[in-house]
Amino acid sequence: MITLGIETSCDETALALIRDGKLLHDVISSQTDIHSLFGGVVPEIASREHYRLIGRLFADLLKKTDLSIAMIDTVAVSRGPGLLGSLLVGLGFAKGLAAASNARLVGVNHLHAHLLAAGLEQQLRFPAVGLLVSGGHTHIYHILSANDFRLLGRTLDDAAGEAFDKVAKMLNMPYPGGHLIDRIGRMAMPDVKLFTKPYVDNDNLDFSFSGLKTAASLHIQRNPHLRFSSPAEAARRCAVAEEETTSLQELAVLCASFNHTVAQTLRIKMQRALERLMTQEQGRPVSLVVAGGVAANSMVREAMTGLAEHFDVEAVLPSLSLCTDNGAMVAYAGEQLARLGLRHLPDLEAIPRGQA
Ligand code: KG4
Ligand code: ZN
Repeated sequence: MITLGIETSCDETALALIRDGKLLHDVISSQTDIHSLFGGVVPEIASREHYRLIGRLFADLLKKTDLSIAMIDTVAVSRGPGLLGSLLVGLGFAKGLAAASNARLVGVNHLHAHLLAAGLEQQLRFPAVGLLVSGGHTHIYHILSANDFRLLGRTLDDAAGEAFDKVAKMLNMPYPGGHLIDRIGRMAMPDVKLFTKPYVDNDNLDFSFSGLKTAASLHIQRNPHLRFSSPAEAARRCAVAEEETTSLQELAVLCASFNHTVAQTLRIKMQRALERLMTQEQGRPVSLVVAGGVAANSMVREAMTGLAEHFDVEAVLPSLSLCTDNGAMVAYAGEQLARLGLRHLPDLEAIPRGQA
């Protein structure tokens, strides 16, 4: 079965072709350079860029795989959550293509696709407990199959990635700055007392990162010398950070402490989820899946691998290129749904705010 995946939910236009769960080729165009000028994604610009690029990216993809439109069995597309205008560009393209090629149309939940992405690299075994940590979401799921996701907990305010990006912005780093905080943080040991792990003294599986963001903001206000003079200066110095260990040391401690606090907060809630699910008669997890942009964070990966070992479940962490938005994850999720018999009609709608 050949499946095309189309991803346009935010600021990446990404398409991929897979055959029976194996990636044939993928193409991606990121708009981060444009949006970084505004310090965040501008929805109107995002949809215009998707519209400008999607046709030529698809043509590129076909050329690279030597496939023709008629050979595509399934057209899978992210239907949400995401920016409405951006989603509509992908949906419109998918519908036209499915109609022209007589392919099956499958709308995919973007968040589920993130968590299923690792299936391209290794066998995914269910039931699983899943942590989705991205720029827009921090969700814990009990996953019973590719089509059965039960939401157990979510953030009440900022997503983990959003907290990273906002702290990065306070430091005058370019947007999105999560990977830079990760990178600088790796140069120092965390001060584990600098920040309190937010919203863990309760018995639920939800998150709240806004307090941690405020604590980081206060720390930066008290220590303004930690800020870069401009995003351009930050990008330049972060690129050669390893050679600048001394001058960036104080900033490295802040970043390491922030990484540590986020990773440990995620660990505490995931441990709680696993403890609860392990006592169930049915649906006991055999794997722990982590996905989304923040799953690229080194301390988050370390914490989740340790947790999986502790509970003797398989740790499933997609490689870094599959963590952030991509077309392959949409193709893979679509293929799984198609195998379960799912098919959408041409009136398939976007679900910009769909959660579970
Ligand atoms: O999943 P994703 O590509 O987009 C959404 O669907 O939101 O995630 C992007 C988020 C951004 O907030 C970015 O700063 C964060 O993932 N991110 C990281 C790292 N790499 C990307 N955060 C912390 N450490 C990283 N290494
Ligand atoms: Zn995403």
